[in-house]
Amino acid sequence: MKKTYLKSTSEAVAPFPKDLLLWNYWDHEHVVGTHFEHYKKVKIIRENEKECLSERTAKLPLVPFYITEQTLAKLESPNKMLVYHSTLFNLVKVKQVFDFEEIDKNNCRVTRSDFLEIPYFLKFLQKLFDIIMKKWFVAVWAEDMPMRERRYKVWKLGFKDFKGIDYVNDEKVNSNSYQRHPERDYKLELPVPKITNIKKEGSFRLFKKSKHLGYSK
Ligand SMILES: [Fe+2]
Repeated sequence: MKKTYLKSTSEAVAPFPKDLLLWNYWDHEHVVGTHFEHYKKVKIIRENEKECLSERTAKLPLVPFYITEQTLAKLESPNKMLVYHSTLFNLVKVKQVFDFEEIDKNNCRVTRSDFLEIPYFLKFLQKLFDIIMKKWFVAVWAEDMPMRERRYKVWKLGFKDFKGIDYVNDEKVNSNSYQRHPERDYKLELPVPKITNIKKEGSFRLFKKSKHLGYSK
């Protein structure tokens, strides 16, 4: 059967360094918490500093039940990420291309292009696909913003993963040293360090509907 693609492109600018946005996309542990309305389980099958293969139980727009999909994310270059989704016995395949354009040190444009492989006779769904994907982009972007803001704020105070902020942990450390260095460059570490069982049994929600409780263990 002749195949073609439904396509959609969305973009937005965030007031954060490019590598902090990449951290957000490569952090799989927040997915069942921050995006709990769309995902209930995520398991990492394998990952390294350039690739991550995961399995996600997700509710896609307009699909009234959960499906399990395999997601392969690849960091093509420091400014480009490719994500391949596959579900329903590889019958449904979506490719997403994320372009990160650093406007300056603290601002970055993210452009996401989506390609859904379809048999040619479904081409009439193009407009609907475009509407759904643009809506999805805006919704997920808004959900991610608080954690990006929080991460950048504590990063500028000297936060280190699983260590915290040393002058908060130890009153003998002088906090002025951080106030004198507010321009600490954001550093991306891949794979993102983990705190949950996302690589063993997977990370899933402990509470069904709460924006504050329910992050995985
Ligand atoms: Fe997210």
